[in-house]
Amino acid sequence: MKIAILGTGMVGETLGGKLVALGHEVRMGSRTANNEKAVAWTQKAGARASQGTFADAAAFAELVFNCTAGTASLEALKLTGARNLNGKVLVDVANPLDFSKGFPPTLSVSNTDSLGEQLQRAFPEVKVVKALNTVTCTVMVNPGMLSAPTDTFVAGNDAGAKKQVTQLLTEGFGWKRVTDLGDIAASRGLEMLLPLWLRLYQSQGTAEFNFQLVRA
Ligand SMILES: NC(=O)c1ccc[n+]([C@@H]2O[C@H](COP(=O)([O-])OP(=O)(O)OC[C@H]3O[C@@H](n4cnc5c(N)ncnc54)[C@H](OP(=O)(O)O)[C@@H]3O)[C@@H](O)[C@H]2O)c1
Repeated sequence: MKIAILGTGMVGETLGGKLVALGHEVRMGSRTANNEKAVAWTQKAGARASQGTFADAAAFAELVFNCTAGTASLEALKLTGARNLNGKVLVDVANPLDFSKGFPPTLSVSNTDSLGEQLQRAFPEVKVVKALNTVTCTVMVNPGMLSAPTDTFVAGNDAGAKKQVTQLLTEGFGWKRVTDLGDIAASRGLEMLLPLWLRLYQSQGTAEFNFQLVRA
């Protein structure tokens, strides 16, 4: 499948690398073509990897990942353009973290709204699926690195889109448990896990951990 990775940070690199390894054709997008990090990534990832602007990447792709800084994601998707996104599934892994006052960051939107919902409202013809935002990127693509099976989640308004993303998470990335939390408003809870995640990151001394849901 042709997949766009919008974002040149560590998440874009890691997800893009895994998707290429799974046999997909992946184009990494940035604000500018020939972004230094995107070019370096294509050289490392091999022949199925390419790069361009956000718009180039989305136009090329059947499936799009939003791996941009959460406080800039709306701007990044505006640069990408609705015409390059409409009708497609957008996997939103971004967190709306505001680092303007240092660490720990605060959420720039929360409680009664979320980044996932803002993106869905701004692009009503895009099938936004919130996924993978509650784990660090190495765990996103290799959940088996943790010492026990853990949980991940999807949220979105389109059942078919969630099914497609769930299949990629299970068959592609190796997740054993993917819980559907319902419509895109469930992004609120997924994003509001971040203050807890950040405290755990400090207390555990590593980003490579996750939550395990246990029932009676
Ligand atoms: N780090 C993790 O393991 C992890 C885990 C879960 C979720 N997340 C979330 O995943 C996302 C990506 O994280 P990251 O650390 O890989 O990258 P990042 O540094 O948060 O974001 C980098 C991307 O954001 C774009 N960007 C920054 N400012 C912009 C602006 N004003 N307008 C348009 N685009 C802008 C950059 O564009 P250029 O390419 O043009 O520079 C770049 O592609 C974030 O939302 C983060 O919260 C991260």
